Amino acid sequence: MTQTRSVVLGGGSYLPSRVLTNAELARMVDTSDEWIVQRTGIRERHIAADGEMTSDLALRAAQAALSDAGVDARTIDLIVLATSTPDQTFPATAVTVQASLGIDHGAAFDLQAVCSGFVYALSVTDSMLRSGACKRALVIGAETFSRILDWTDRTTCVLFGDGAGAIVLEAQQQPGNVTDRGILTTHLRSDGRHKSKLYVDGGPSSTQTVGHLRMEGRAVFKHAVAMITDVIDDAFKATGYGADSIDWFIPHQANKRIIDDSAKKLGIAPEKVVITVDRHGNTSAASIPLALDVARKDGRVKAGDLVLFEAMGGGFTWGSALVRW
Ligand code: ACO
Repeated sequence: MTQTRSVVLGGGSYLPSRVLTNAELARMVDTSDEWIVQRTGIRERHIAADGEMTSDLALRAAQAALSDAGVDARTIDLIVLATSTPDQTFPATAVTVQASLGIDHGAAFDLQAVCSGFVYALSVTDSMLRSGACKRALVIGAETFSRILDWTDRTTCVLFGDGAGAIVLEAQQQPGNVTDRGILTTHLRSDGRHKSKLYVDGGPSSTQTVGHLRMEGRAVFKHAVAMITDVIDDAFKATGYGADSIDWFIPHQANKRIIDDSAKKLGIAPEKVVITVDRHGNTSAASIPLALDVARKDGRVKAGDLVLFEAMGGGFTWGSALVRW
């Protein structure tokens, strides 16, 4: 029996031109290239220009995704933009992108699940497409984390970067068997008991300021691998696929040690793991679509490939998605 699936039509990304290296950071705070590379795998990150906002990054990624998909922006009837660094408290950054794309129908909203934002956005969009609420969607992850960093705090400012990535999804009838393309399963989790381990110390309702990112890095690290592998096991159980079946593992890019440990625990071969944290740093909700775009452009991810996404972030939130390209 045929089944409605959210099939990926195309993707794109955008990185601000300014590259900030570890060597430059070492002139700003008491750190070194050696410390950053050894603990995180990060060598450089991109930083948005003065006046360049999350919506600007998101728009560039969305335009690249639409062009890659070969679809007219006006055929999009849903935009879900995952971000924790919106242009303004409201309206949603998604409506700015919607207007810039010349779309005046359908719905557009922001989704906030910090680094898990893109996986959350995929899951929500998949539900809306399969229910018939919309037909063709843009899912965007876009961040300007440089704007919420305390640039005097070496324990956090070396970890993050700015960027955006997007994909176009469409509700399509698929055969209803193992050849089905599109989103096969998604699994979302959160546990607010951990909210003080990774947070921003400001907000409209509390301090009336934007605030700065604060993190107990070691505590986050301690939970990360177990949470990531748990939610990937859920994806495997739901589909019958296992580590051997997947072609590409595209994890949230927070820290190379977390990625390596997770892949090892799951039995995913290192050559199947897409790593961009060395060049992008942690771009939060943008990291997965950015890594995906790199792996598609260099020819790794091809039509028919089974691609596994996972993310874990502030909240804590975490999640997985398994997609047949
Ligand atoms: N340069 C040099 N030294 C540093 C730096 C730095 N940039 N930062 C911290 N140190 C020092 C510390 O002060 C400490 O010194 P001490 O021993 O004299 O006290 C020492 O290095 C070790 O610090 P730890 O915090 O224990 O180092 P750790 O090995 O845990 O690495 C790190 C820190 C990289 C942050 C790691 O804990 C980590 O990656 N955690 C996970 C972060 C993460 O993945 N976040 C993802 C979610 S992000 C999101 O959702 C927005």
